[in-house]
Amino acid sequence: MAKKLRYTCSACGAATQKWSGRCDSCGEWNCIVEESPLSAQGGKQSIGGARGGRIALSDLSASEAPPPRTRSGMDEFDRVLGGGLVPSSALLVGGDPGIGKSTLLLQAAAKFAAGGLKTVYFSGEEASAQVRMRAQRLGLADAPVKLGAETNLRDILTTLEEEKPQLAIIDSIQTMWVDTVESAPGSVSQVRAAAHELTQFAKRRGISVILVGHVTKDGQIAGPRVVEHMVDTVLYFEGERGHQFRILRAVKNRFGPADEIGVFEMTGGGLAEVSNPSALFLSERGTPAPGSVVFSGIEGTRPVLVEFQALVAPTPHSQPRRTVVGWDGSRLAMILAVLEARCGIPFTGLDVYLNVAGGMKVTEPAADLAVAAALLSAREDVSLPEGAIVFGEISLSGAVRSVSQTENRLKEAQKLGFSSAIMPKGDKAPQLRGVTARRFEDLTTFVGDIFGAG
Ligand code: TYD
Ligand code: MG
Repeated sequence: MAKKLRYTCSACGAATQKWSGRCDSCGEWNCIVEESPLSAQGGKQSIGGARGGRIALSDLSASEAPPPRTRSGMDEFDRVLGGGLVPSSALLVGGDPGIGKSTLLLQAAAKFAAGGLKTVYFSGEEASAQVRMRAQRLGLADAPVKLGAETNLRDILTTLEEEKPQLAIIDSIQTMWVDTVESAPGSVSQVRAAAHELTQFAKRRGISVILVGHVTKDGQIAGPRVVEHMVDTVLYFEGERGHQFRILRAVKNRFGPADEIGVFEMTGGGLAEVSNPSALFLSERGTPAPGSVVFSGIEGTRPVLVEFQALVAPTPHSQPRRTVVGWDGSRLAMILAVLEARCGIPFTGLDVYLNVAGGMKVTEPAADLAVAAALLSAREDVSLPEGAIVFGEISLSGAVRSVSQTENRLKEAQKLGFSSAIMPKGDKAPQLRGVTARRFEDLTTFVGDIFGAG
């Protein structure tokens, strides 16, 4: 029988059945190589004819101490890491150019170094003098961080081997080049090779490595997704250019909860931590206006209050607009459909705009009821009762379903002086002093009670 062959792209890893000059997945040239499957190479028990070594297996019950952690002292940063930096770990911090990644990591490096962690910062984008100037502006000139401006990974690894730091920061992975890979720096294969070398190095030498990665227009860290698989933790630094708020979000963390966020404010003197994000996100809110609804959300382990704003207006176009910022567009379409089908409230011929104030992104389905409330409030031109917060998931049948961590959501509302909560009926949370719970089982009752329609 003829040996079955497969071809893989050495740049992006895509597999194909036939050879071609250009990879269909990533568009690189001359990167398709032949690869024969393992089982085709030898007999039943062997790979290439030789037997492998016996691997020692262990029980699941063997007790394992939690990894030791080093805290930077920047609480918002430590929280996103899951409580501090873990030795021998590799982290990726992604974000748009200019969002403040270098600033954040320079500040974090200074904190770690001041706490006694031997820290080296390699910049491939800026000269040492530029980084030093920034450090001076941030008031960090005295921090015991070692600085290097280099893009050659071989030199960087040698330096790290001799310097023996406990933390190395590489800013950015897209500027690094590995001399054994032919393509240009920033290309998929270079980024992948450099990330692989650095993560392997971190494991071997027991140091923590933080990689900075730029994000492409479509929101992915430039380079193959495999970089995200290689590292232990992936953090995204996000925010709107025009806003001073920045959110550091854990999208993957082998050592802590994902979806944890840290909130910062970009000031003239660098990034300042925001320890009470709810107060910040609601700070510009005046008296309740039609279309404005406060949602009590959970980000990671912490409750955060944010404001949803909706605008509904007759459309001059044949195809009405559905514009969303900070929330999922298809989820909005679903809620509009449920309002129409279950409550008989159509949005045909109306433009719908939905925005989360402060540049925050909400991903929880628990915001469904708040979105529905904002849409109805805007459509009917009626404000929600003053001092009300809203949460609850909406199902396609029009039922209002209970959500997780109700007590935390209510406590945060209580802390910020809200007096009523519009929430699912099924939730068993205890009654909190000063917060009246208005519970609903389905959307139709909610619409009737709150807006007197339906
Ligand atoms: P930077 O950290 O260079 O972004 P990145 O590494 O993600 O590309 O941050 C650049 C922006 O931050 C720049 O537009 C200026 C602003 N900034 C401040 O507002 N205050 C400061 O103290 C610093 C250092 C930067
Ligand atoms: Mg930078």
